[in-house]
Amino acid sequence: MLKQLLPTAAISGLLLIGSLPANGAEPAVEFRESIMTLYKWYLQPMGGMVKGERPFDAAAFRKNAEDLANVASLDLTVGFPEGSDDDTEARPDIWLDWDGFTGKFADLQSASAELARVAAGGDIEAMKQQFKATAGTCGGCHKKYREKK
Ligand code: HEC
Repeated sequence: MLKQLLPTAAISGLLLIGSLPANGAEPAVEFRESIMTLYKWYLQPMGGMVKGERPFDAAAFRKNAEDLANVASLDLTVGFPEGSDDDTEARPDIWLDWDGFTGKFADLQSASAELARVAAGGDIEAMKQQFKATAGTCGGCHKKYREKK
């Protein structure tokens, strides 16, 4: 009995896995929104320090900068399969201008890597400057490729 059931269970498991990519855009949308949530999580405390809303803590800044660079090293573009803009803030321009879009992602990757490097050096003025450049790459992509709501 068990011997007969097991292969059936295994096969239906395989069918489930096999059907995932054809499952519509939802998992990809969840993936990219999760990544964006993480970006924001690491960016915000640094922004508070740069704006003077909280005391400048160079060690905490450095940790956030490193973690942001780590998250930004994950390939964001897999979260944007072609045409996955229904009911989201993603603009169709992403796929009409894929090179432009991936270029904006590359900007974030290099700016955040540089921010982690600068933060390790401990020069607070340099950290503030590079923070602004990094935050600017978020807006640089949103302005063109995210729907304003
Ligand atoms: C390469 C382009 C690109 C870059 C770079 C980028 N974003 Fe986004 N972001 C988007 C797009 C497109 C959306 C809309 C996604 C959607 O609605 O599915 C978005 C949505 C968001 C959201 C809303 C997520 C949600 O749950 O709806 C937040 C928050 C966000 N981004 C923060 C950031 C921060 C912070 C940075 C910089 C550290 C950043 N993004 C960099 C393209 C980008």
